[in-house]
This record gives sequence, structure tokens and C-alpha cells, in this order.
Amino acid sequence: MALPNINPTTTKAWQNLKEHFEDVKDVHMKDLFAQDKERADKMTIKWDDFYVDFSKNRITEVTLKYLLELADDVKLKDAIKSQFSGDIINKTEGRAVLHTALRAPKNANFKVNGVDVMPDIHKVKQSIEAFTNEVVNGHKKGHTGKAFTDVVNIGIGGSDLGPAMVVDSLQYYKNHLNTHFVSNVDGDHVNEVIKKLNPETTLFVIVSKTFTTQETLSNANTLKKWFLKSANEKAIASHFVAVSTNIEKVKGFGIDENNIFPMWDWVGGRFSLWSAVGLTISLAVGYNNFDNLLKGAHKMDEHFKNEDFSSNIPVVLALISVWYNNFFKAESEAVIPYSQYLNQFATYLQQGIMESNGKGVDRNGKSIDYQTGTIIWGEPGTNSQHAFFQLIHQGTKLIPADFIGFTKPLHGNQDHQNKLMSNFLAQTEALLNGKTEAEVIAEGANSEIVSFKVFPGNKPTNTIFVNKLSPESLGKLIAMYEHKIFVQGIIWNIFSYDQFGVELGKQLASKILQEFNSSSNTEHDSSTNNLLNYYKGMM
Ligand code: F6P
Repeated sequence: MALPNINPTTTKAWQNLKEHFEDVKDVHMKDLFAQDKERADKMTIKWDDFYVDFSKNRITEVTLKYLLELADDVKLKDAIKSQFSGDIINKTEGRAVLHTALRAPKNANFKVNGVDVMPDIHKVKQSIEAFTNEVVNGHKKGHTGKAFTDVVNIGIGGSDLGPAMVVDSLQYYKNHLNTHFVSNVDGDHVNEVIKKLNPETTLFVIVSKTFTTQETLSNANTLKKWFLKSANEKAIASHFVAVSTNIEKVKGFGIDENNIFPMWDWVGGRFSLWSAVGLTISLAVGYNNFDNLLKGAHKMDEHFKNEDFSSNIPVVLALISVWYNNFFKAESEAVIPYSQYLNQFATYLQQGIMESNGKGVDRNGKSIDYQTGTIIWGEPGTNSQHAFFQLIHQGTKLIPADFIGFTKPLHGNQDHQNKLMSNFLAQTEALLNGKTEAEVIAEGANSEIVSFKVFPGNKPTNTIFVNKLSPESLGKLIAMYEHKIFVQGIIWNIFSYDQFGVELGKQLASKILQEFNSSSNTEHDSSTNNLLNYYKGMM
């Protein structure tokens, strides 16, 4: 079954939302809370160890009703069914989208073109488990007989961001292996990592779905060359493994066939950390923790697939985001985790969200005249409070924000935790209520600066409380955003699973690279030409 193909702006619900927007656009959330004492209860979803309060949004029950009707009007239910059934919903690349199968139990039913994909998934999971155990317990050794101490993940985009974010987020659960990530083609990146390595005890994990990515192959070659300074070719088999769909290319690189962890074309790069792309995660935190990450994501998949839309966390978050993006014309969204462990979470989400839904053509191949993909950014609180929160509080832009907090600290330091959480709660309260002129005056402010101290408030936030940061809860959180991306792509009638937009720059870069060693340039605009010549002169 193909995805539904419905221009959202032609639906009844969209028209209702448009008219309704005119009625509520200036309403202050403070008044909505005053009018309905049960607002927070009505607009909270409690599920498993998640507590999601979306009441601090510029929505009423009518808004929600129309947004839920929009989900029905664009046939979201059918689309979800299509995705989980392994339909070729990534039409522009002719592929199914089944990262959900990677985290499903063995007996689940996932087929692509009529073929059951579960046996292959579980075969690879078993090899990830066996390999992880061997490396972690020190039985697998480097070519000089020493156990591994360091793992280097070589990849970029989805082959880097997911594993890097998860390893960083789960550092509390980490074992003795030191993990490093090399992604940028900037040689300074790889050379800084090399400084920390001993070739005798380093395991290299080359991750590339296509095994054609310039950055990854350059870094892999540089590391191989460095490694071969102190070892012979035969030693590569003990130190280099790869994750890819392109088995022939991996073998061509010199990697032993037994050291290849396969993946499949129905796993999108930015949704691939659940596959063997997550090998470095498994190595860093152990297979059981990796498996628990997958189990958590699967729980969220079940919630997303089965829950009524009105209490379905990814659906509700996606609809609210569409409300701001398409009606309030909000330009961006922030994700603010109140956990230093989630330092890389927003960076990770940037690829997931912006590479998926940064599209300007609909499912008919026609240019779109409404807004699609949101710009996503963020940093952990409380650091971000001392950086960009000023603009969210008093700037001119509307920036809806997700606040993610954990009720239990991992290190049990309740003093720090309470300070952290008091900030977490205070910020969303301040963003909601602001501070009126009367309140500023009552505080005794000098009349000349009163207006500077007024906070308008009415700034929307979602509060996502999770009991504790664990592999399982992190899995749920990531999957929650993945499904939010899917829902928004369906509503906007775009294809979320291709990324042709990243190709043009790559093509031009390879042309320019050749020109660095040539006396003449091909045709460029005068700016690029001047810059190219300037660089060549300085090389
Ligand atoms: O940036 C484009 C992209 O294709 C991403 O979608 C992908 O995650 C990344 O490059 C890396 O690709 P590969 O895993 O094939 O090296």
C-alpha cells in the first residue's frame, strides 16, 4: 500500500484550524489555566515511566480536537499501518522503512517484499552479542596478543551521530573500553584521536551504509595507514571491522568477510543506531544494555502503533509542533534536556528531523506552498539558561521548547538534583506566566527600567518527565522523536526518508577537489572562482 497522498491544507481540519487560529492566536495561556483548573490533568499523558505534560501550549481543547481531526483527514492511521507492514513508503528510493523491526522481538512479523526479515536481524544481533562479549571480556585480542582498550567508530551522519549520542548519554553504564568517534574529513579530527591511541590495543569499527562516503573512507584509510606503520596487512583482520550494506566494497578495503556486520537498505542512515550501526554502543555499554535500549524503543513503537491518537505521545507532540510551525509560523523548536548526559541529543535530532522533513516538494513531486521541516536546536539546561534563554524569554521570536527531565539522578546526589529540577520547573513556569508590569513595579523597580523587566510569557513548552536515564528509557525517548518525525512527514505530505538535498554539495566538492591540482578551473560564478584561486594560492 502506498502512503496516502493528501495536501493537508485542503482538509476540513486545516480550514477549521485556520479559522480557529484567528480566535486564539492572542490568548494568553495564563488565562487558559485560570479558566480551567483541570487543564494540566487533561493535557498530560502518563505512560510507562513517562509523564508528558503538554498543557503549557497555546492550545485549547478545540485546538486539540481539530489537530486530531487533521491526523484523521491525512489518514495517519493508514500511514502507520503501511510503515509497520514493510510497504515501500520510501518511494523515491524504492525502499521500505523498517527500523522498528530491528528492535522487535524475534517472533514479530515484519516482511519486506514478502520476505520475513526477522531471522536475518536476529542472526546479526547474535553476532553483535558474541563479538561484544569477546571484546569486553578481553578474549578477543589484537595482533600482538593484548586485549583491546580502545574502540574507534569511523562514520558520519547516521553512522556517527546516533552511536556517539547514545554512548555519551549512557556513559554512566559504560565499561572499561575507551570509545572515540571520528567523523569529520577535517584531518585535525582524526589526528587528535590518533594521539590517544595505541595501535596494538585499538579496534576500528568502520560504519558506512553505502561504504562510498568520502569522509568515512578518508578517515578509515588514514587510520589504516597509521595502523600499518606498526603492523602488517594480516593484522588488519584482528583490528578492523565494518558495518555496511555494501559487502563487496568492504572486502575491497581489506576487511575480512567474518568481520563484516551487515545491514539492510530498509534501514535509513539516521534511524540506524538500532542495527549493527550500534556496534560501538554495544561495545561501550555491553550487549545487555544495547538490547535494553532496543527494548525501550520497541515499547514506544507499540505505544505509537496502538494508542489512541489523543493519548499517543509522538502523535500529540507532532500535532502541537505542526500547530506552531504552520499556523503561528514558528521558525524553530528547541529541545532542552535537563541532563548533562544528553549533551549531544539535540545535535543527534538535527539530522533525524531536518534531513527527514527538510523537503519542499510533496508526494506528487510538486512544490509545496506551506511550511515543512522545523529547525531544531538546543543544549542542556541549566547551561542553556545562561546562554540563549534570554532570547526565548524576551526576544521577538516564538520558540516552542521540549523540556526533558529525569526524576531520579544517576549518582544519587539529591542536592544537585533538586537544584537542577527546581530550574527545570521554574523555567517552564516563567515561560508560561512571564512577569507583568504591575509585578515589576511591585518589586520596586525604577520606573525607567520597568518595561525592560517585563516578561510577556505565553511561551510554549512541553514537559517530558522520565523516571531515570537508562538504556531502556533512552530507547523510548529516541523512538518517540522518530515517530514524531514520521507523523509530521505524513501531515506535510512529503517523503521523509530520502535526502537528495545533501548530494549537490558532494558533487561540486569532488569537482573542486580535482581543480586544486589543476592549473585551470571549470566554470564557476565569480565569487567561487575568486575564492578557489585565493585558496590555491595559499595551499
Ligand atoms: O548526509 C547524507 C548521508 O547519506 C546520511 O543520510 C547518512 O547518515 C550519511 O550520509 C552517512 O552515510 P553512510 O552511512 O552511507 O556512510
